[in-house]
Amino acid sequence: MVDSKNSNPNQGFLQGLQSYGDRDFSIYMRRAFARSQGFSMAELARPVVGVAYTHSKFNPCHRHFPELLEAVKRGITFAGGLALEFPTISLHESTLAPNSMKFRNLMAMDTEEMIRAQPMDAVVLMGGCDKTVPAQLMAAASAAKPAIQLIGGPQMTSRYKDDRVGACTDCRKFWMRYRAGDMSSAEIEAVEGRLVTTAGTCAVMGTASTMAAIAEGLGMILPGTAAIPAVHADRLRAAEATGGEAVRMIAAKLTPDRIITAKSVDNAVRILLALGGSTNGIIHLAAIAGRVGVKLDLKRLNELSDTTPVLAAVKPVGNEFYMEDFFAAGGIGAVLRELKPLLNLDCLTVTGETLGQRLASEEGHYVDRRVIKSAAEPVEPQGGLVALFGSLAPDGAIIKRSAATPSLFEREGRAIVFSSLDDLAARIDAPDLDVTADDFLILQNAGPRSAAAMPEAGFLPIPKKLARAGVKDMVRISDARMSGTAFGTIVLHVAPEAAAGGPIGLVATGDRIRLSVKDRKLDLLVDAAELDKRRKAQVLQTSPEARGYGQLFSRTVTQAPEGCDFDFLRPAK
Ligand code: FES
Repeated sequence: MVDSKNSNPNQGFLQGLQSYGDRDFSIYMRRAFARSQGFSMAELARPVVGVAYTHSKFNPCHRHFPELLEAVKRGITFAGGLALEFPTISLHESTLAPNSMKFRNLMAMDTEEMIRAQPMDAVVLMGGCDKTVPAQLMAAASAAKPAIQLIGGPQMTSRYKDDRVGACTDCRKFWMRYRAGDMSSAEIEAVEGRLVTTAGTCAVMGTASTMAAIAEGLGMILPGTAAIPAVHADRLRAAEATGGEAVRMIAAKLTPDRIITAKSVDNAVRILLALGGSTNGIIHLAAIAGRVGVKLDLKRLNELSDTTPVLAAVKPVGNEFYMEDFFAAGGIGAVLRELKPLLNLDCLTVTGETLGQRLASEEGHYVDRRVIKSAAEPVEPQGGLVALFGSLAPDGAIIKRSAATPSLFEREGRAIVFSSLDDLAARIDAPDLDVTADDFLILQNAGPRSAAAMPEAGFLPIPKKLARAGVKDMVRISDARMSGTAFGTIVLHVAPEAAAGGPIGLVATGDRIRLSVKDRKLDLLVDAAELDKRRKAQVLQTSPEARGYGQLFSRTVTQAPEGCDFDFLRPAK
């Protein structure tokens, strides 16, 4: 007879048994294979913490994860748990075609199903590079087991000659200088070797660090751990503490739906705004919130933006400080304390404490005001991101005003249209392109349902002839995304996208467009009859993929305001 003690069907290693029609046989089989790994019966009786492990040689941002994993497992073991890591898909920004966004939902599905299907009582989610953290939080929210995120942490900066450099705001700045003819091929190649010199995620407040901050704003990571550099000893201590906390969360039954709520999503939006964080953060947060049935309304974003100051002067906001400076300056805790009157302090965090209890325990902590400003003397009095609406974007579009040129905010311009990424690449630098610095560059068919699957192509290059004449910024509008490390007067996520029949697909070169950041407006100044005529002649350019994941993606992906999640992954109403 099989010893069935410690075989509660709802917890531990013997939960979720296979159905052979003989429960004792299922237990016997599972134990037989588990014991082949050398586990004792006592170990197998412990609460199980799975560790979603995303180390991959295709993901340089996670190159330090083996060392972090050892620390997580130590923490789980010390706290009385059994640590079992399992691999999931890992996503890196520069090694995936056509782009990493296309695979965020795949990673979320992989992670969710493995959390649910494997016998674990809680999970530690090890993520870092841009799409990994949102994918894991989406997964955890749907899997509904106690879950805690461990952030990989940002890179340290490096040097190129007299310049301090870090990926990837500086990547773009140097590339613009190269395009403008101010740097040689040998010099740009030398820069290439200096931009990324340590493990970790991009060294500025790009999407990865924005998502880490959002995770802390939501309460899904240990307090104070979002910004610890990847190679800092504190990162290892955070990993060990995260493992231990995961074990304690089991007894407390602290599932993500108790932490990710409408109120904590508001807190996370405030953090995003106060950091001048990545526009991608809005899409990812909408997707995470959507998994627990919370809608991130873009009109609500504007309300929060109007009342949230930008507090962090971290690139691409400002021109001096990097994530390592932000960490040393006080990190997310310092920003949260400044925002305290605006936050929902009763929100729970993974520790079981409320945000208010956390902040009370941090009163008087050090803050470097060069990097993290006070609410009384902010970088900007209002938030970094704004949603625009109008006849060109009926369901909304996003502009990152904190990284844009204010003199371009209130203006009307002539549209210069590129119908696809291929068209953009073929014509943007053509010497005979009819374009001036006052024109608006429009990119169509780069949204989620397009063949390009919403790449970070919204940072349209300044046409070479204008760049060489000294033009640094222009109004650029698309249904694409933009890297969190990019900057400029760039309107993104126009919804509905061209491939879904949105008005952006009807714009023709020569049309007039009016942008007003003050009034939150983006209008196509073409009369309705003409637009109707164009609509009738329009052939929607959706993804041509006829099979597999690509087909699933283009058929079920939602628009940017819904987070580009798959429609069938959101909770049933
Ligand atoms: Fe991984 Fe920037 S490429 S965080």
